[in-house]
Amino acid sequence: MPFSPDDIAAIQTPAVVIDLDIANENILRFQQYASSHSLRVRPHIKTHKLPALAELQIAAGAIGITCQKISEAEAMAAGSSAIKDILITYNIVGSEKLQHLKALARRVKLTVVADSATVVDGLAAAFRTEAEPLTVMVECDTGANRCGVPTAEAATALALRIHSTPGLVFGGLMTYPPIGATAAVEAFMTEGKRRIEALGIEVPVITSGGTPSMMHAADASVTTEYRPGTYVYNDRSLVARGDCGWENCALSVLATVVSVPTENRAVIDAGSKLLTSDLLGLTGYGHVLGRDDIVIDQLSEEHGRLVSTGPIGLSVGDVVQIVPNHACVVTNMVDTVFVVGNGLRSVEAWPVAARGKIV
Ligand SMILES: Cc1ncc(COP(=O)(O)O)c(C=O)c1O
Repeated sequence: MPFSPDDIAAIQTPAVVIDLDIANENILRFQQYASSHSLRVRPHIKTHKLPALAELQIAAGAIGITCQKISEAEAMAAGSSAIKDILITYNIVGSEKLQHLKALARRVKLTVVADSATVVDGLAAAFRTEAEPLTVMVECDTGANRCGVPTAEAATALALRIHSTPGLVFGGLMTYPPIGATAAVEAFMTEGKRRIEALGIEVPVITSGGTPSMMHAADASVTTEYRPGTYVYNDRSLVARGDCGWENCALSVLATVVSVPTENRAVIDAGSKLLTSDLLGLTGYGHVLGRDDIVIDQLSEEHGRLVSTGPIGLSVGDVVQIVPNHACVVTNMVDTVFVVGNGLRSVEAWPVAARGKIV
């Protein structure tokens, strides 16, 4: 951990800290896997929301980035000239958003997804008069039961609609599968590709995503692109699944002990406003590094309660380092993250450019 005691003393808690050396290792590990399987990487920036980190991902070999919302994509594009190719994996609905989409499409290579004729028709109405058509992929539901057309037949019908609509270009098939659904992705996408190609329409890209299954991404051999997000930082949920160790977690929260009311209980200055209430099926709201005996069992907005089976062994003023359950939601809670590593001489405060971008 390249955070020195001086660095830690200079950071006001509670704070989100990022170890760029670990983040870089995480980026390179997946990039190497993907490159060795001829898979292109398009990281989802929802985890870090930092143009500078997207630059590291692109420098490592990523072909572009994935964003969930237009405002997020706008912030990322504005933050780095290296970000030239963006996929927004979201149905864009509403005239105001479509105006923003048009403006963004004039600045970067932009692709969006759709899973209904209504969304496709809205995109078409906005782009009919544009000089360049908009690339639209069909979102497919391979078992996550969120968005996405439910069958390869439905994907084919929507692909045909996009292909035949002025102002739009069919870009391929996109899915965000549940964990471990590589076989379902292979089956759905192979069938969808076969049906669409039978109509004489090319399927240039098939993109899937998700960190927990990423080291099996190539088992769905029909996939051409992969969108990992959390892999850049990792978090407690991934350690709990056995996907990585604590030493692979690049993001942590520094918190100060503000009260030790009893021998086995302490209270820190990080509550739900920073650690968030995401449990992701786990017990407790994060892992105190080096203290397997401690559970963060209760949060209020600004207080986190730490309990131990034995003596808590903490004093008021002590600083603890916590790996949160879910890294992506934590980075949305702060204006600034504190970074070290990657040749930086001392800790730097980086604004989280794409936080709070929910529109
Ligand atoms: C559409 C989409 N693609 C990719 C990802 C990245 O998933 P993960 O953070 O598990 O890598 C997400 C995460 O929510 C997503 O919604």
